[in-house]
Amino acid sequence: MELTMGSLPVANVQALAAASRDVPERYIRPEAGAHPGFADCGVDIPVIDFSRFLDPDSSRDESSKLHLACQNWGFFQLINHTVPKEVIEKMKLDVREFFQLPLEEKRQLAQVTGDVQGYGQLFVVSKDQKLDWADVLYLNTQPAPERCLRFWPTQPLTFRQACRRTLKNLADRLLEIMAKNLELNPDVVTDKFKVGIQSIRFNYYPPCPQADKVLGFSQHSDADLITLVLQVNQVQGLQIKRSGEWFPVMPLPGAFIVNVGDIFEILSNGRYKSIEHRVVVNTERERLSIATFHSPQSHAMIGPLQELVRGSGARYKTVNHEDFMKLFFSSKLDGKSFLDRMRY
Ligand code: OGA
Ligand code: NI
Repeated sequence: MELTMGSLPVANVQALAAASRDVPERYIRPEAGAHPGFADCGVDIPVIDFSRFLDPDSSRDESSKLHLACQNWGFFQLINHTVPKEVIEKMKLDVREFFQLPLEEKRQLAQVTGDVQGYGQLFVVSKDQKLDWADVLYLNTQPAPERCLRFWPTQPLTFRQACRRTLKNLADRLLEIMAKNLELNPDVVTDKFKVGIQSIRFNYYPPCPQADKVLGFSQHSDADLITLVLQVNQVQGLQIKRSGEWFPVMPLPGAFIVNVGDIFEILSNGRYKSIEHRVVVNTERERLSIATFHSPQSHAMIGPLQELVRGSGARYKTVNHEDFMKLFFSSKLDGKSFLDRMRY
């Protein structure tokens, strides 16, 4: 089957929310609201202090902590991550400003058939599936040849700087430490990680009068190696699934929320697992976030690494990265069902 990437065009949710207090039926989700097992309190996911990797006296200790966080949680907060505060604050400001532009201006960057980049929504593959209460700007940002600048905002003028290399470098450093923790050959770091692709998803979740009946982002796991998420304003919304229950994540000020993605799960033959998460929305306030995804290069083979297969056998199939991504974007999000198709 020839698959092309893309998502069916849908209504702009920011405009929908501004125009009326009615929530169309397509956004009402039976699974969204309080359900048995829903935990109201936040969950304390592990906190990893990046500055401790830089100090020889503490780096081993922090690496072990990271190993446990990846093994037992698949999610952690990263503090003291060396990305200057001014850079983060400027990114946040620019993103807010972009989503505040008039709809006609944002529509200049609208997705086109067959491409997932641009302004719109993702994973819409049928005319009757339920929809997420959000608008998205999705861009391939690294390396430079992957960019499609026609989808990149020119307003605000400084927006494009938000896509600079700083976060890719940070992700590469983390992946290097994760590789060491799994005793992987350093070639893996070069082949699969360093030359890899970064894409950024800017998420805008408008307030919703029936917030407990919609979802900002359906439950899913990320189809990458690792994701770094920055919550742009102080509106909580991210939830992770743990022992079958949903728990809100409360980001520490200035921290990145980092999670292990499906490709890392596959490469590591299941040693580290991607975790299901979703986003709920607020009745009063909009929520914005920036998710940066880090993946191998487009021609890399995605499959369990030989050195981790020995003894136990491969638990996942091997496919090339391009086919993997086409498969990912061609079905609606449904927890980890996409990854299940990669299992033996
Ligand atoms: C994502 C994601 C979480 C958030 O973009 O994949 O899970 O907090 N975002 O918006
Ligand atoms: Ni995600």
